[in-house]
This record gives sequence, structure tokens and C-alpha cells, in this order.
Amino acid sequence: MGVVENSKLSVVGAGSVGTSLAYAALIRESASQVALYDIATEKVEAEVLDLAHGTQFTRSSVIGGADLDVVAGSHVVVITAGAKQQPGQSRMELAGTNVGILERLLPGLLERAPHAIYVLVTNPVDVLTLAAQRISGLPPERVFGSGTVLDTSRLRWLLAKRAGVTTASVHADIVGEHGDTEFPLWSNARIGPVPILDWQGGEPFTRQELDGIAHEVRNAAYTVIRGKGATNYAIGLTGARIVEAVLRDERAVLPVSTVLSGVRGIDGVALSLPSVVGGDGANAVEETPMSADEEALLAASADAIRAAGATLGI
Ligand code: LAC
Repeated sequence: MGVVENSKLSVVGAGSVGTSLAYAALIRESASQVALYDIATEKVEAEVLDLAHGTQFTRSSVIGGADLDVVAGSHVVVITAGAKQQPGQSRMELAGTNVGILERLLPGLLERAPHAIYVLVTNPVDVLTLAAQRISGLPPERVFGSGTVLDTSRLRWLLAKRAGVTTASVHADIVGEHGDTEFPLWSNARIGPVPILDWQGGEPFTRQELDGIAHEVRNAAYTVIRGKGATNYAIGLTGARIVEAVLRDERAVLPVSTVLSGVRGIDGVALSLPSVVGGDGANAVEETPMSADEEALLAASADAIRAAGATLGI
């Protein structure tokens, strides 16, 4: 599907994640205009220039700079600004610093883009999604996080590779925290129409093997950060995909992080469940089927996120 005319995406933060997301959005033509903002003037101006030099090869345009006015009139604002995970550091350890950045940024963003959908990417994304919703006062569906969309992409890539099928034929989701308590919904995972444990193409999956794959997904970011210092390409592509679902009003089901109110007994916490993402934002699919064990894991994930937020009074 082509670029949505007169659609504007603003990316806040010109670090490796923000620039990768802006680059992915240009290549995929996620929006007709991409704006990149950062407080580091020289850095953001150089990034915008480098991106603009390639726009002959895309139907999207790019602007940006250190003046917050560049986000004016955005339809979607993606927030990537913040401290990044160091090798071995958990995402939750970034909470205090990054909530502070959010508190400083949001009022100015809302003043310039009052009607935008806000997508949090900065980690810990679930804590920051709740913080952003509270600070902004926007309806919960208009402020959500990238959540476990990236983790789900990692899971589907691993399963597809193992099963010898295309990723598009793997239907399996990671839910809960985008972090150490995330888990796969194996109870309704399928390859094509086949439940994952019934798959006979080649070697059948064993429960132990699936647990190993879940572990590999949960630790993927640590592995990449250990090797290259950050993750950026996959989260950039993830962010561009989410932006498209909003700008094209796709009503795509993606496991983004939304603030839950009384969903499966979870209240006042943002975490990922399969959600309908479209022009009005994101709404969790409350009736997502789960086993009793998965319900318990979801509750434990909610508790971990709530505890991290509580240390910051969120
Ligand atoms: C990761 C970062 C985006 O999982 O949290 O790569």
C-alpha cells in the first residue's frame, strides 16, 4: 500500500533507535513526511541531512532539528528519546532517567501536536507508556507502547526458521512486559492452521525446545547489545510498522503495550496483549484466549511492571 498523502510522523530522539526508525519509515514510505527531533542540534541536523540526501529514492520527505516546532501538526509522534541499556543492564533500570525526560518533553509535544497518536518506544516501554498516559491525560488508546511487537517478530523468525516456513505463516505472540517477564502464548500458537505442538513438518517441536526458543527471545536484546552496544534495526522496523497501522487505519492486530483498566483483573498497568491498532490508536483484545498458566504469567508480568512504576510514584 502506498504512502498516505499528507501524513506526518515525528520521531523524538535522534539516537540509533530514532534514526533507524526514521530511516525505516522513509524506505517503507510509512508516512509522507518524517520529522526528526533531538536536543543535540549538530547531531540531529546531520542526521536529517543524511536522510534527506536519499529522499530522491523514496516518496517520503524528511525535516527536523532541535526546535520542537518541527513536530507541529504530526499525526503520529514516536518517542525514542532516553538513556539506552548498557551491556547486562535491564530495561527497568532506565525507568527513573527516562520518565524524567518524558516529563520534560510531553507538554511541548502536546502543545504542538495535540491530536496525534503517541507511541512510546523508550524503555522501560511499559512503565513509560503508563507515565505518558498519566502526564498527557490523553485517552489510553491514544498513548501506547511498541511493547512486545519486536519480541513477537523475534519469536516468529525463530519458529519460521526452525519449521522451514515463511515468517508470515507463523502465528504466535509474545505478551506481557517488554522485558524479563515476557512470555509466548503457546496455547494458541500455530503454523498455518496447525497448533505448534502438532506441527509435523520435519522434526516436531518439543516442549523443551519451545522453552529454549522463548528464552532466546527474552534474551535477544542482551545478546545484541553485548555484541554491538545497542539494538536499533529491528526496533526501527517495528516502529515503522506500528506507524503504518495507525496512519493507514489498518486495524491490524499487534501486541502493543496499552494501559489496561480491569482487563483480566489487571488495572492501571500498561503491558502487551494482541491489540487492534488503527487511526484512533490501540485497544487490547480482551478476549485473547490463554491457559491458566499463561494467565498466571500475565499477572506476574503485570506485578513486575507495577512494582517498577511504583518506585517512581507512577
Ligand atoms: C530491544 C529493545 C528495543 O528489545 O528493548 O531490542
